[in-house]
Amino acid sequence: MGIERVIDNTVHEDDSEEEVYEQSLRPTNFSEYIGQERLKKNLKLAIDAVKKRDDGTTLDHVLLYGPPGLGKTTMANVIAHELGANLKVTTGPAIERAGDLASILTNLQDGDVLFIDEIHRLRRAVEEILYSAMEDYKLDIVVGKGPAANSIRLDLPHFTVIGATTRTGSLAGPLRDRFGITYRLEYYKEPEIKQIIKRTAGLLETPIKDDAAEMLATRSRLTPRIANRITKRVRDYADVNGDGVIDTKIATEALDLMEIDSLGLDPADRNMLELMIENYGDRPVGVTTIAALTGDEVSTIEDYYEPYLIQLGFIEKTPRGRVVTLKAKEHLKKHD
Ligand SMILES: Nc1ncnc2c1ncn2[C@@H]1O[C@H](COP(=O)(O)OP(=O)(O)OP(=O)(O)O)[C@@H](O)[C@H]1O
Ligand SMILES: [Mg+2]
Repeated sequence: MGIERVIDNTVHEDDSEEEVYEQSLRPTNFSEYIGQERLKKNLKLAIDAVKKRDDGTTLDHVLLYGPPGLGKTTMANVIAHELGANLKVTTGPAIERAGDLASILTNLQDGDVLFIDEIHRLRRAVEEILYSAMEDYKLDIVVGKGPAANSIRLDLPHFTVIGATTRTGSLAGPLRDRFGITYRLEYYKEPEIKQIIKRTAGLLETPIKDDAAEMLATRSRLTPRIANRITKRVRDYADVNGDGVIDTKIATEALDLMEIDSLGLDPADRNMLELMIENYGDRPVGVTTIAALTGDEVSTIEDYYEPYLIQLGFIEKTPRGRVVTLKAKEHLKKHD
């Protein structure tokens, strides 16, 4: 993408500073985890039931999906913590062969939580092993080759899988069916984002005025990761150009510098919308064409730009492609 976007909603895997920052802000229990009330209520109930039974049964497998940065990984950590369970973390693409999964599974203990991030990227052969492991805590492995090959069944400890994905669409049906609890994380409400910003400013030991927190909240794309990132950038700006306090003046200047507008759109969003309008007007346009226009990957458009623009009502998905709405056009005009 060339230029670094503040609202870029990925964690850069090679950027350890970013990871350390996120880690330092990550809530560890239900009471610190702001918002997603319905999910928390359901999980609390399920976790309490497991604890109360205390007969070796474990929490149902949990599938969390939704746009990046809404708190899936964070919730996986919270669940393990609330269960008092060990957490093992892996990702779909990291498990290359069936044998890799077998070794992960046989090393688990009763009650452990196995978090599989990007679970939609599991390889087919690996996925098939996971089915029976999740369903009956059995591992089917083939020993030997050719006519002498033998299939044996191993007992596995009772564990809980937490899967996370930005796309359930690309998850195989049989895999999806093995999750007892499936939940779509929703965009946060502005007051919740404001609360997250205040909490983060507190952890950074940066005083923030209430109206400034509100202002940042309206521009954080209703996403905790972006809220935290913006708070950090504004804190840096306040340290250099002010006395370290975040008020509306400092916040306005810092946001202007980042070219983030009143709804949290940055130049790349506006550029995409403008290209769509210029080239297609009111006609629908396919996502591959949009990607060609902006020079991005299709998955970048689908995972990072589009969900929030759809949430805002700026883009509509139709069977024949994406359409920019009147609402978007009016917003863009205001910000000419
Ligand atoms: N409910 C919440 N309350 C407070 N902070 C939160 C909450 N959810 C997420 N955060 C913060 O936002 C950051 C991003 O969250 P997280 O890494 O869990 O997102 P994710 O859904 O796993 O994203 P991805 O799809 O990119 O993996 C975390 O560092 C955490 O500090
Ligand atoms: Mg994550």
